[in-house]
Amino acid sequence: MKKVITYGSFDLFHKGHYRLLQRAKALGDYLIVGVTTEHFDEERGKLNLIDPIIKRIENVKATGFADEIIVEDHVGQKVEDIQKYQADIFTVGSDWTGKFDYLKEYCEVIYLPRTEGISSTMLRAEAYELVHMGIMGSGRIAGRFVPESRFVSGLSIDGVFNPRIKSAERFAEEHKLDFFTDDEEEFYSKVNAVNIASPHVTHYAYAKNALEHGVHVLCEKPLCLTKAQAEELYALAKAKKLVLMEAIKTAHAPGFIRLLSTVKSGTIGEVRDVEACFTRLTPDHLRELTDTECGGSFTEFGSYAILPILKILGLHYEDVEFKMFLAENGVDVYTKAYFTYPNAIATAKTGLKVKSEGQLLISGTKGYILVPSPWWLTHEFEVCYENREQNQKIATRFLGGGLRYELSDFISTINGYGKSEFKLTASESIAMAEIMEKFLAARKQMQEAK
Ligand code: CTP
Repeated sequence: MKKVITYGSFDLFHKGHYRLLQRAKALGDYLIVGVTTEHFDEERGKLNLIDPIIKRIENVKATGFADEIIVEDHVGQKVEDIQKYQADIFTVGSDWTGKFDYLKEYCEVIYLPRTEGISSTMLRAEAYELVHMGIMGSGRIAGRFVPESRFVSGLSIDGVFNPRIKSAERFAEEHKLDFFTDDEEEFYSKVNAVNIASPHVTHYAYAKNALEHGVHVLCEKPLCLTKAQAEELYALAKAKKLVLMEAIKTAHAPGFIRLLSTVKSGTIGEVRDVEACFTRLTPDHLRELTDTECGGSFTEFGSYAILPILKILGLHYEDVEFKMFLAENGVDVYTKAYFTYPNAIATAKTGLKVKSEGQLLISGTKGYILVPSPWWLTHEFEVCYENREQNQKIATRFLGGGLRYELSDFISTINGYGKSEFKLTASESIAMAEIMEKFLAARKQMQEAK
């Protein structure tokens, strides 16, 4: 019996896929089809897949060509599968010509002519209208955003808003955007989504105004500095059927998602402690240190450090306490937030003028997980036990600056597929605003006592 094996994502199943499977089957007597997991596709940089794996498998099955369907979830699996299933032929479309020649060591490799004029990418682009996005603010974050957006399909960054028109003009020129403006009304009329990357103090007002104008909002962290404001914005977004997302890239990184599911699966037992640290030595002239109202290390980096705490231990902490060092102008340059939970404790540590190890350490009753610096760009983590022989290192991919993951989740939420809301829920984002509010109150008290 001649066994043939082939692989694909088979997203939005189309006639190119059908014809490929039909011809693959005709090459032998028994056809094995490997369908990729979303996780694997995400890891290899293929974002925005629309159909969930179950649907993609069902579509392959419905053709009647596959004798066996398997799931492909890691690099190198093809070599393993070919040996395991004793495949005689590996086949794939001609768009891959040459790429799989290394498999010739194990079986015959046949590239079948690709069906012209159709692809999942094309169908994805046709299925949903392009999201036209504008950027509010033209500073450092905004600058990182545009290049990352090119990796996300279904999105076009069209323009930039800045009350300082010269900055907007410079930014539009540098990033080759269609328009720039200092007029908020004009801005909202030209886009259907915004990325708010302006100073913290402006976030609430811009987000509210954008939502009122029927525009989806992806807002840099911290979204708000009070709980009431965050609640108001999420209620407004819900009433208007718009997407409001706080942009915390770590929450959308494949490695961080993997880390959370590892913790939740109980491998390290009950979690008793989460320690997260984010410090970056910052020159005195930058906004983080000069903005006496909203600057400081905790408003700048606290959202990252709080994220794993809320994700792992939940929103129902009993108490949060803050200790900090203040600069002359009253902004905190080093802060520790201590959380107390019924059965756990946690610390979030942030610094602008103090440098520390940027790691995340999660301690449990059976073991611990160490995510080395920079844990917020989760590349790898180690699950450790009393018996070191059981330790396991897990490496995941984190592409570019990582903004592409949150952006692609934002786009898929707007379009109603992808199911990524769990990665950062409205309740979690509101809880973060509440913590920021408590922090600012504690800082004010300390400033007054000085
Ligand atoms: N295929 C084909 N003809 C097409 C599209 C795909 O023969 N017009 C083949 C591919 O070469 C591959 C298999 O179908 O062997 C599964 O491809 P997949 O990557 O899932 O589909 P694409 O439409 O190429 O997806 P995308 O646009 O996301 O790359």
